[in-house]
Formats: sequence, C-alpha cells, structure tokens
Amino acid sequence: METYHIPVLLHEAVDGLNIRPDGIYVDVTFGGGGHSREILKRLNETGHLYGFDQDEDAEKNTLTGEQFTFVRSNFCYLSNFMDWNGVEKIDGLLADLGVSWRHFDDETRGFSFRFDGDLDMRMNRQAGKTAADVLNTCPEKTLADIFYRYGELKSSRTIAKAIVCARKNRNIRTVRDFLDILKPFFSREKEKKQMAQAFQALRIEVNGELEALKEMLRQAAGLLKPGGRLSVITYHSLEDRLVKNFFKTGDFEGVLKKDFYGNVLTPFRLINNKVIVPDREEIEKNPRSRSAKLRIVEKI
Ligand SMILES: C[S@@+](CC[C@H](N)C(=O)[O-])C[C@H]1O[C@@H](n2cnc3c(N)ncnc32)[C@H](O)[C@@H]1O
Repeated sequence: METYHIPVLLHEAVDGLNIRPDGIYVDVTFGGGGHSREILKRLNETGHLYGFDQDEDAEKNTLTGEQFTFVRSNFCYLSNFMDWNGVEKIDGLLADLGVSWRHFDDETRGFSFRFDGDLDMRMNRQAGKTAADVLNTCPEKTLADIFYRYGELKSSRTIAKAIVCARKNRNIRTVRDFLDILKPFFSREKEKKQMAQAFQALRIEVNGELEALKEMLRQAAGLLKPGGRLSVITYHSLEDRLVKNFFKTGDFEGVLKKDFYGNVLTPFRLINNKVIVPDREEIEKNPRSRSAKLRIVEKI
C-alpha cells in the first residue's frame, strides 16, 4: 500500500503535549493519523482525542475505538465543534501544518509541479476557489501580492502581468499552463526553488492557510486549561513567524503587553526556548521533514 504520510518529529511533538492519560486532546491536522495514533497510545479509557481534517481522503484513515472522534472540518471551526461535542476545555492540541505527502504525490490534485493535471490545490475539494480560478479571476495587483507575500518572489509583479496577459487568450487550467507562464521568469539554476515558491504561494491563498492558522490558535488559547499544552509543527517561515509571535506574546505581531507595574502579560510559558528541528537521521529517512520546526507552549 502507498504511504499516505510519514509523521514528522513524532515523539518530540507528542512528548511536548505532556499527556495526561485521562485528558482531552485535539489533533487538528489528522492526515494519515500518525501523531493521533501516538497520542491514543498514551490515553486511558477516560481520555479522548478529536482528530480534525478538512480533506475527505484523510477521513478514510480514521481510527476506531471509543476514545477517538474524527471531525471533517477546517480547524478554523475548532471552538464550534468542541462546543457541539460538549467539550468546554482541552488538555492539549497538536498541529502539524500544511499538506500531507498524499497531497503532493496525487497527480489529480495539482499541488506539485512534478505532474501535469488540473490546477486545483484545494485541501477541501467541496468548497472554495481552485488555484486555476484564482489565476483566472483575481486582479493583477492581488496576484502580485500573493506571489510576493506568500512566495517571497521578487518577480511577482511581472509574473502577475504575464498571468493576466495569458488568460486573455484562454483559461489557465492545468499545471502545465501555469508552468509555461512562469518558466521565462526563472533562471535555470533557481528554477525548482522558485517554482516551489510560486506553488506554495498559490496553495496558501487557495486554502486561506494563514487566516485559518490565526483563527485556530486564538480559539485554542481560549480552550486550553491552565497547564494545557500546544505543540505546533510549521514548514515555512510565514506560518512559523505567526506561531513564534503568538507563543511569545499572545499576539501575531509579536508585540509584548505589560501591566501597570511593567509585568509582561502573556498567556503562555515557552517549553522550548530554541525551536526543535528534525535530526540528521530523521532527515535522511524522510527528506521532506527538512524544513519542519516544532514549538511548544503551556497555558499559564
Ligand atoms: C502535514 S499533514 C498532517 C499529517 C499527520 N500529522 C500524520 O501524522 O499523518 C496536514 C494535514 O492537515 C490537513 N489540514 C491542513 N490545514 C487544515 C485546516 N485548516 N483544517 C483542517 N485540516 C487541515 C491537511 O488536509 C493534511 O491532511
């Protein structure tokens, strides 16, 4: 059977939750269920784990047993679903952000420039605009912002202009259509890296990844019990910056708030001052783990 996903920083991320066997936990990025299985091993019959994923393929990996509930939803609705399940407070939450291997390796989904196919890129194929819709409908300025802000591409303005010019002749529909527009702007040495940046930018936009992350973190902070833990793995600097700032200050801009006496007001205590990354052995076994960064905090 094909591997759906190999969990990254598995023990580090789950150890970071400091699991209470009878606690209530949430894995907001269930995927292939690697982290969830490890959490479940550490729960007794009164503990419970909720696993969220917005992708219907992930639901097929759902786990059996009284202690597990799968929630097919975007994690930005975390509080609503916890409320619906009668849960007021949680002991810990794990997020392993981004897309699974299955997304990258499935040629029908449009996440990778290794395959031609429809340019979709939605994690939830039942809602929202596809990547092709974004390219065919967004104003030039919006497209330039997407490639600059989410892909950190210097040629974002010229790329946006070329997209608008190309779509006048015919709809952009496939990965190949998009690559044909991009290629003239990339040097041969940097072509792969820059294509990855352009694909990442489009994927972040299509899935509203940064907005969903902020929403989920805000709600998670409200749901956590004092002493409860958040364990978050990021894969690119935009999401890592948000997580880092929020963990340090409770604010996405990283602005520290102080009380009248100058005491720092923050909802969390950092468990790891230095970010945790995969060791050489893990990267050798699983090169896709290379960019992972794990941060853990405890609610005060
Ligand atoms: C890196 S994978 C997680 C892999 C998982 N930890 C494992 O061990 O198999 C990320 C998963 O989170 C899901 N996901 C990403 N953003 C989401 C969101 N906003 N709401 C719900 N699920 C999301 C993706 O569909 C994907 O299956």
